[in-house]
Amino acid sequence: MLEALGQECRAHAWNSLAAVGRRRYARPVTTSPAWRSNEEVYGYGAAFAEDAAFEAELDVSLNPRGYDLLFDLVAGLALEPDALAVDVGCREAWHSIELVRRFGLTVHGIDPVTRHIDGARRALASLASTEPDIADRVEVALGMAESLGELDDSVCLVWCRDVLVHVEDLRAAFGEFRRVLRPDGHVVIYQMMATDWLHPDEAERLWPPVGIFASNVDPRYFETAIDAAGLKIAQCINLQGSWRERAEEDGAGTSSRQLLHASRLLRNRQQYEDTFGTDAYNAMLTNSLWGVYQMIGKLSPRAYLLSR
Ligand SMILES: C[S@@+](CC[C@H](N)C(=O)[O-])C[C@H]1O[C@@H](n2cnc3c(N)ncnc32)[C@H](O)[C@@H]1O
Repeated sequence: MLEALGQECRAHAWNSLAAVGRRRYARPVTTSPAWRSNEEVYGYGAAFAEDAAFEAELDVSLNPRGYDLLFDLVAGLALEPDALAVDVGCREAWHSIELVRRFGLTVHGIDPVTRHIDGARRALASLASTEPDIADRVEVALGMAESLGELDDSVCLVWCRDVLVHVEDLRAAFGEFRRVLRPDGHVVIYQMMATDWLHPDEAERLWPPVGIFASNVDPRYFETAIDAAGLKIAQCINLQGSWRERAEEDGAGTSSRQLLHASRLLRNRQQYEDTFGTDAYNAMLTNSLWGVYQMIGKLSPRAYLLSR
């Protein structure tokens, strides 16, 4: 019943927002539910009459796509071995290494954070002792999406996973992707997006502690910037909570752990802040809500395949 009431409140909140013209994101997929009487909720043949059967149905997997989806997009491109890829925002080169392993590419990884590039270099040095042929094909360097070091028309694949939320000048980044891509090249992007279910007050709490530009999680703004750079959207997959479901069903339990953390963070704020500081507290709260919000429809990541 409380859940039903919550839905009513949210529907009301959206309508209010729309009324004052603050809506910025895509409409939620549900329509506003009708109000039901007590008898209609609990009586014979009413909303809860079939709840056991409904829950049993909900226990059946929808076979969600997992993290391999981005690699599957790359596989579909049938790139030639040795083709040049750039991993933009490579962090510690996990995906650069995997792109070499799976597709035999040559990968340049860039990231603006020295700590990440140091970590990537350590990872490659360690890999050189077990898989030297793989390690040899990855180079990492400090760099930014907005000013890539590659030559014009030289890159077959720009891989940009979970990075563009942090890039202030999105148009400059897409302009660079367009500049370095070969005419037959592609861009694979993973990008978090907000939905209308994320209330503006929640957005104000969520983005700043982890350096995310609110404009960039608006799909319309994001796709306008793609278009302005002269890139085309060949494919856009709205992932919703699918990666999160996959991780729950595979036993990793990433989002259920984050849910537990969110509750502890809210109940025990002072102690965590005293121990780890306010910045760490706020960042951890965003991090913990990250997966939870994907599972309840407030955030919905997208995978994009772009071409010239
Ligand atoms: C959430 S991490 C994602 C790392 C990695 N791509 C992954 O999928 O695991 C975001 C990364 O983007 C990098 N980043 C932030 N601003 C950037 C920029 N302007 N250009 C390139 N990378 C940037 C960060 O340093 C960080 O490594």
